[in-house]
Amino acid sequence: MLKILVTGATGNIGCEVIRLLLSHDCHVCAALRNPDKAQQILGSNIHCVWFDFINPDTWASAFEGVNKLFLVRPPAFANVKRQFAPVLNAAKLAGVEHIVFVSILGAEHNRFLPHSQIERYINQLGIKATFLRPSFFMQNLNTIHREDIKVRGELLLPSGNGKTSFIDVRDLAAVAVRALVEDGHLGKAYALTGREALTYYEVAEIFTEVLGKPIRYTHPSLLKFIWQMRDRGLSLDFILVMAAIYTTARLGLAGGIIPDVEQLLGRPPLTMRQYVEDYRKFWL
Ligand SMILES: NC(=O)c1ccc[n+]([C@@H]2O[C@H](COP(=O)([O-])OP(=O)(O)OC[C@H]3O[C@@H](n4cnc5c(N)ncnc54)[C@H](OP(=O)(O)O)[C@@H]3O)[C@@H](O)[C@H]2O)c1
Repeated sequence: MLKILVTGATGNIGCEVIRLLLSHDCHVCAALRNPDKAQQILGSNIHCVWFDFINPDTWASAFEGVNKLFLVRPPAFANVKRQFAPVLNAAKLAGVEHIVFVSILGAEHNRFLPHSQIERYINQLGIKATFLRPSFFMQNLNTIHREDIKVRGELLLPSGNGKTSFIDVRDLAAVAVRALVEDGHLGKAYALTGREALTYYEVAEIFTEVLGKPIRYTHPSLLKFIWQMRDRGLSLDFILVMAAIYTTARLGLAGGIIPDVEQLLGRPPLTMRQYVEDYRKFWL
């Protein structure tokens, strides 16, 4: 039976991928560094293995017998040579045949992005791969921005009037599962966006209607945004990545809509309204 190892299993995409894989005829294994957190998120029926990207002692047993690897880069890991190459070498050595990697939209145009470097390293190793290049996740709104929306009724980010073609992580996971269990995805790269591009004014309007309470979009200057996020205890590295992403949207570079999700899933991507309805408990 096909054995699939899922990294980032406690995160946005990984836990959804595991949930979907459970209805397929394969052996799913969650790669984790924190079993207690895993049990809370995934329940107790999932087969788990201890795995840490930066602890080589965990790699051999995690990769044993694995045919396919679902690879998520932890957002804090930017040094590909130090934090990724060794673990990918171990995957190759263990005989992993196919990697489905969560990259980022536009990775092919920016050689300096860690995602782009990881794509190239996987190709260099000669492991067959499928690269998923998603746009900005809707689920950032119930994680990073949850408290602003819930407590202060505010969407606070510096994207001006720029549009974003948000993707729902559930669509990304559905594509990932197809790439893992179906034939025909080796050597492919998919650009994955939602079906609509929205400004944050429009997003705030959807939140206001669905939650039945006013949510305002406040768009501070870049400096004020950085200062406010610092005040909330976020690390400067993380804030700078956020600032870069939101500036891309402000400059009008994040609104492209690409049909890959619909072509791959045979249905349109989920909308922002559907997402807010399904996740409303996060903000009430
Ligand atoms: N957010 C977006 O809008 C967006 C858009 C496009 C692409 N992406 C890319 O998608 C990827 C995932 O981002 P995300 O924000 O959704 O993160 P995430 O998957 O929700 O969280 C990161 C996951 O990595 C795990 N992890 C962290 N350090 C680890 C380690 N040393 N060993 C093993 N596992 C470790 C975490 O496990 P613990 O529970 O143990 O911490 C968690 O499950 C990133 O590469 C990001 O650049 C994100």
